[in-house]
Amino acid sequence: MKKSIAVMNTKGGVGKSTIVLAVAETLSAFHGKNVLVIDSDSQASVSSMLMTVPSLYKLQSEGLTVVDYLVATVLNDTATDWKKFVVRNVSDVDDARSVYLIPSDMQLTLFEREVSKESLHVKLRTTIGTLLAEAEKVFDVVLIDCPPGLSVLTESWLREASLHISPTKADYVSICGLEVLRRFKALNPEMGFADSLGVVVNMKDRMSPADEEYHRWLRDNGDNRCFAQALPRSNALQDAARFHSYERSFQAKYPGEVGHALRALTVEILERVTAVNAAAGASAPDQSASPKPAAAGAPAGATAAAAAADRTVIPSA
Ligand SMILES: Nc1ncnc2c1ncn2[C@@H]1O[C@H](COP(=O)(O)OP(=O)(O)OP(=O)(O)O)[C@@H](O)[C@H]1O
Ligand SMILES: [Mg+2]
Repeated sequence: MKKSIAVMNTKGGVGKSTIVLAVAETLSAFHGKNVLVIDSDSQASVSSMLMTVPSLYKLQSEGLTVVDYLVATVLNDTATDWKKFVVRNVSDVDDARSVYLIPSDMQLTLFEREVSKESLHVKLRTTIGTLLAEAEKVFDVVLIDCPPGLSVLTESWLREASLHISPTKADYVSICGLEVLRRFKALNPEMGFADSLGVVVNMKDRMSPADEEYHRWLRDNGDNRCFAQALPRSNALQDAARFHSYERSFQAKYPGEVGHALRALTVEILERVTAVNAAAGASAPDQSASPKPAAAGAPAGATAAAAAADRTVIPSA
């Protein structure tokens, strides 16, 4: 089953991390999916959106981030179980209790430098490939938050993930970022690359004819596979980045138009994942848009802040 999705645009600030956060929470709250978020950005943006800063610092100081997993496996040649690095019960949305996270750390940059110095690219890619293949057996959806630019690590995610989604703003420079990614993909086709699930227009201003024009242009150009549903520019999505130490409802975090847009977008995403897998001969995953009980066994009423370091249970394969 193709379920791992790298979220990537070479351009910065287009909303990659925000989309990973909001899509993960919507898939959990409204589709009952077990979602693993892998934070592959040294800024640790999505990690800090999914847990309190003290919880994140604690995991970083205890050596429980994606960097520690990669250092052990790739640099130190130590067999390490990636499941040890998965944090359960993240997110401050009360209905989104099946979002899991492998957090990141600033040290990721140093790790990548070592990989390049020691020419460990092949080993890195093999490690990423094994991790994703195993994670796809355990989780319903795996979302990888990539940093802007094309680092050796990002290249590994893009070549080993099954699929990629490219967020863009409705502006010229962000769309150029998509073109860079497309050209990069075409450079070495024999090396493999994630299939494009589509382009998501983010921060669309409903009142702007220019934004509408860009969205239409992206949709008319079939190669983009642009999603019909765009995400509006909104205070709610901007504020979603700030993790609350108390739980709130999905509607409180993503009210009105934003919540509707997220639900429509996740329905489109699941339909496309189903279509890709059906075309590849895999059995179609459930793409129901109706609320279902979250499958993860998080204790009722536990706050995400309190449970952020709970790493003991992940869904079984
Ligand atoms: N739909 C939206 N409406 C309003 N603000 C948004 C929206 N999406 C994202 N933002 C804001 O835009 C900024 C950039 O978003 P985000 O960090 O998600 O982008 P990114 O592509 O992950 O950035 P980077 O390339 O640095 O990783 C953040 O301040 C975020 O809160
Ligand atoms: Mg980001």
